[in-house]
Amino acid sequence: MEGLSDKTIVVTGGAGGIGLATVQRLVTAGSRVVIADLVSSNGESIATELNEGRGMVHFMPVDVTSVASLTKVADEVVTRFGAIDGVVANAGIAVMSEAFAYNEASWRQTMGVNLDGAFFTAQSFARHMRGRGGSVVLISSIAARSVVQPEKCAAYGATKAAVEHLAALLGVEWARDGIRVNAVGPGRTETPMIERIAKESPEMVATWMEQVPIGRLIRPEEVANAVAFFLSDLSSGCNGTTLMVDGGYDKT
Ligand code: NAI
Repeated sequence: MEGLSDKTIVVTGGAGGIGLATVQRLVTAGSRVVIADLVSSNGESIATELNEGRGMVHFMPVDVTSVASLTKVADEVVTRFGAIDGVVANAGIAVMSEAFAYNEASWRQTMGVNLDGAFFTAQSFARHMRGRGGSVVLISSIAARSVVQPEKCAAYGATKAAVEHLAALLGVEWARDGIRVNAVGPGRTETPMIERIAKESPEMVATWMEQVPIGRLIRPEEVANAVAFFLSDLSSGCNGTTLMVDGGYDKT
């Protein structure tokens, strides 16, 4: 894909699901990729496995709820590789709960990872792109635009609606710095996140299949293709927009 070879790109939450598929897609395109994920993730061994001795995949522990942690990784990437060309604010959590049952901790944790984490990821890495250019990709969701059913996800949906608008706000504000900001909005995607929800409520799966026009879950690599597009020069005219990868769900 045009313009991804030899670029340095950071993927938060890159050790699992959509993040890992994105890392794999970028490696195929010739990028140098930093998996930025929790210490407890399998990031180190995944990086070693993907590397096959080529030194193009690196793991740096991060917690996106901590600005200090994000700043440390951004500085380390610049020190080691000279520049940052792109960042994917992919780390996210989905806590399902009826609104009356939400406790303060889980609400704030969802905001902290999905919304505050997306903003401070964008800010921390885009600082190093000012003037030289770069691409920021945020991960939204069908839950940003629809009241998805039957799962109950007020906090999650609220964060994703905000993330989608954040892409527009930052894209416009940073355009003259040469930084493009876009979002990808996946439908329900075959990852550990959705597997956890399906395990808790197996009866939901049949409903999900009925709701999505293409009649199946989205594959992580299909989302990764859209992310790679926004990171690449193929999307040079796109800014502040969201591309849905949802099998047509958003149109129903
Ligand atoms: P996942 O649960 O499979 O992977 C999430 C990754 O984020 C994990 O590697 C985890 O360690 C990491 N992570 C979690 N908290 C973190 C933190 N505080 N700091 C750093 N890393 C952290 O999730 P999945 O499904 O791959 O989701 C990725 C993104 O896509 C999320 O933003 C999610 O909301 C979004 N999404 C997922 C959909 C799905 O159906 N799977 C649908 C729509 C959006």
